[in-house]
Amino acid sequence: MAELVDALDSKSSFRKEVRVRPPLRVPFFIQPLNAIIRRGRESDMPALRDIINYYITESVVTFEMVEMSLENRKTWFTQFTEDGRYQLLVAELDGEVVGYAASLRFHLRPAYAPSVMTSIYLHPNHTGKGIGKKVYSALMDELEKVDEVHRAYGLVVLPNPGSEKLHENLGFQIAGLLHEGGYKFGKYHDVRMYEHRLEK
Ligand SMILES: CC(C)(COP(=O)(O)OP(=O)(O)OC[C@H]1O[C@@H](n2cnc3c(N)ncnc32)[C@H](O)[C@@H]1OP(=O)(O)O)[C@@H](O)C(=O)NCCC(=O)NCCS
Repeated sequence: MAELVDALDSKSSFRKEVRVRPPLRVPFFIQPLNAIIRRGRESDMPALRDIINYYITESVVTFEMVEMSLENRKTWFTQFTEDGRYQLLVAELDGEVVGYAASLRFHLRPAYAPSVMTSIYLHPNHTGKGIGKKVYSALMDELEKVDEVHRAYGLVVLPNPGSEKLHENLGFQIAGLLHEGGYKFGKYHDVRMYEHRLEK
């Protein structure tokens, strides 16, 4: 940088020109992210199936072990409503569904009903661009409006720096650790439980 300034100092006529010239291109990292967040639809299920199946077969971020069929996803979709405990939001980028955030049943025992479990997965080509933050915060905003939701829990298989940071940024607190709580791909894995206390 100092070299560039020195070079410009020695050619003052160029320096004035450089100062007033607008940037030719906006650097990619400050371009606005044009992801749209909307309600999930049944027609999104093939895309959501492909996303979750990638993480089932390639990673331990989900403890699901068997790939999902389209029929399975269509049945899964029937639990969601627009104003209830269980909601599904998707992120769409240039017409393509690139991820989702959902609230799901936390536990089968009925007294757990006011608690939901949250879930978020993005297409592997679209992580680290702020889409997770956008879709997850939209889901939490929706859950804040639902009187029947008191707590939201996120279970994060460690380590997962992106997910850990995302939960912390969205106001989740660490509620505990399931030490070696799961076994996948020949190893035990720790799971951190994050809790969001909804403001009502
Ligand atoms: C986890 C996941 C949902 C996060 O969404 P994302 O769009 O990649 O994350 P964002 O770009 O919105 O970033 C959210 C925050 O995490 C940080 N972050 C993202 N990736 C990170 C990484 N690999 N290491 C450290 N921090 C990271 C970002 O800087 C940002 O923090 P900031 O707002 O303070 O700068 C997404 O990466 C994903 O789908 N991963 C694979 C599936 C998965 O792990 N799901 C969660 C299971 S619990």
